[in-house]
Amino acid sequence: MSGTESDILVIGSGAAGLTAALNLADRFRVTVLAKGGLDEGSTAWAQGGIAAVLEPGDTFADHVEDTMVAGAGLNDRGVVEFVVERAPAAIERLRELGVPFAMQGPEDNRALHLTREGGHSHRRIVHVDDATGWAVQEALLKAARANPNITLIPDQVAIDLATSRHEERYSGAGHVWGVYAVDRGSGVVNLHTARATILATGGAGRAYLFSTAPAGATGDGIAMAWRAGCRVSNMEFMQFHPTCLYNLDVKNFLITEAVRGEGGRLLNPNTGHRFMVDLDPRAELAPRDVVARAIDAEIKRDGLDYVHLDISHLPADFVRGHFPNIHDKLLGLGIDMTTQPIPVVPAQHYTCGGVVVDRDGRTDLPGLYAAGECTQSGLHGANRLASNSLLECFVYGEAAAAHIAACWDDLPPPPPVRAWDDSRVTDSDEEVVIKQNWTEIRRFMWNYVGIVRTTKRLTRAATRLAMLNEEVADHYGNFRVTPDLIELRNLLQTAELIVRSALHRRESRGLHYTLDHPEASDTASDTVLVPSHF
Ligand code: FAD
Ligand code: SIN
Repeated sequence: MSGTESDILVIGSGAAGLTAALNLADRFRVTVLAKGGLDEGSTAWAQGGIAAVLEPGDTFADHVEDTMVAGAGLNDRGVVEFVVERAPAAIERLRELGVPFAMQGPEDNRALHLTREGGHSHRRIVHVDDATGWAVQEALLKAARANPNITLIPDQVAIDLATSRHEERYSGAGHVWGVYAVDRGSGVVNLHTARATILATGGAGRAYLFSTAPAGATGDGIAMAWRAGCRVSNMEFMQFHPTCLYNLDVKNFLITEAVRGEGGRLLNPNTGHRFMVDLDPRAELAPRDVVARAIDAEIKRDGLDYVHLDISHLPADFVRGHFPNIHDKLLGLGIDMTTQPIPVVPAQHYTCGGVVVDRDGRTDLPGLYAAGECTQSGLHGANRLASNSLLECFVYGEAAAAHIAACWDDLPPPPPVRAWDDSRVTDSDEEVVIKQNWTEIRRFMWNYVGIVRTTKRLTRAATRLAMLNEEVADHYGNFRVTPDLIELRNLLQTAELIVRSALHRRESRGLHYTLDHPEASDTASDTVLVPSHF
């Protein structure tokens, strides 16, 4: 595979990237890169579904309010309205693409089946059983493959954005012209150029030892945008999902929140006590930050390995019918969820912060857009409401595409950009450095920058990150890039942004809970980091 020149370059083939590509391809030539297989992002792993106001009696105002309550008031209300009001149309477009959403009602009057998740005051989640993301990913990929204007290229690991600094004749315009990416097969670094580039690279969950996210969630887009000069915001708000399967072999299997939405109860495994009813009037359906902290406290207080999630009091047919994939997966591991409780622990799940974008998906740099989990759009605030993130991908993928199309004539074509220079580096003889540092970061991020934080632990993490930074920078400067090295560099960069943001916030709000400042302050404000490395 060699480099490409297209009208628009999309980095990421998940919900955000493919939505953008499909919305551009009637007029433009679009190239979509993925760093592994085309279906290996978080999108394909999504279980619960997509939030939209479709139930009689539900209103946009209710969905907005639920989103703001979960986000602890830090959300941008205008953005929340913008996204919530576009949800029903987004669902309709997915149905047109063939996503087989679960239906209910008599044959002559079928309606979408809506499930319930924590923090939602209504049944609001459209879904495809318990494997919504897989169906969405398949439908988007099928449409993209069928479109002659879209070129899909897997196994291209983007290293850094190509900007004005890489122009053959430096213009100083600060424009983004595409990306340098290493081909996994050949190891060659290609240059992909375009008039506009859209980052849709997903989150940074793998900065933590335990995460529900796929292996590629290493914050690449956030780190690349930061290095190129974009502001990054609210990185302290890493969401921990309350119910990840506790299993020593299968470390990142999510048990969807819809299990609690349909009646699942959280129990102390020693006493059988349903502890959430003591803590919150919404019990198991309180927002994720509340439930995850409650489980964390229960585990620490009683020295447990896990708590129980129990839905065995409901009819077996109902459980199997609603959660066929989870049921089969657990059965393969020796757990029959129709008769037994499921051992669960919280695990990192979603990156609420990211690259600052406006309502058109524009970043701070001309020619660079971003959409989906790699962004901070103002939708989620201090804690994302369940099933609002796929929705954000569809709305912002489309918004970025619409802005590019509307401003096409103002986007200059790329000038000559320098090829990647690896004449001064050699092949690494110390791959062990990568593995060691990778494990170390993920472990101390889990222990020091997890669900409950203190300034002392955050400072410890910052000190370690500074040391690792030197080691990785040295490695990066001297050796040929490999996918593992690129991911480690980005993971480190993202971890630094998380810790800096967490140290900056001197209050507890939403997902950021610190024992040193346990109360929320009177006014809610975003943490915005401004790059100064130019
Ligand atoms: P992703 O789908 O993660 O795609 C990222 C893409 O970027 C991939 O194609 C990847 O290859 C590419 N990429 C990354 N780095 C590079 C690089 N350096 N070079 C080239 N390409 C790169 N949300 C909901 O709303 N509802 C749910 O039910 C739900 N369930 C979830 C369940 C699980 C287990 C997980 C992990 C998340 C869930 N989420 C859910 C969150 C949601 O799935 C994600 O936020 C969303 O799918 C992100 O989509 P995206 O397009 O931004 O990124
Ligand atoms: C889940 O199914 O619990 C995940 C939903 C989400 O992350 O929005």
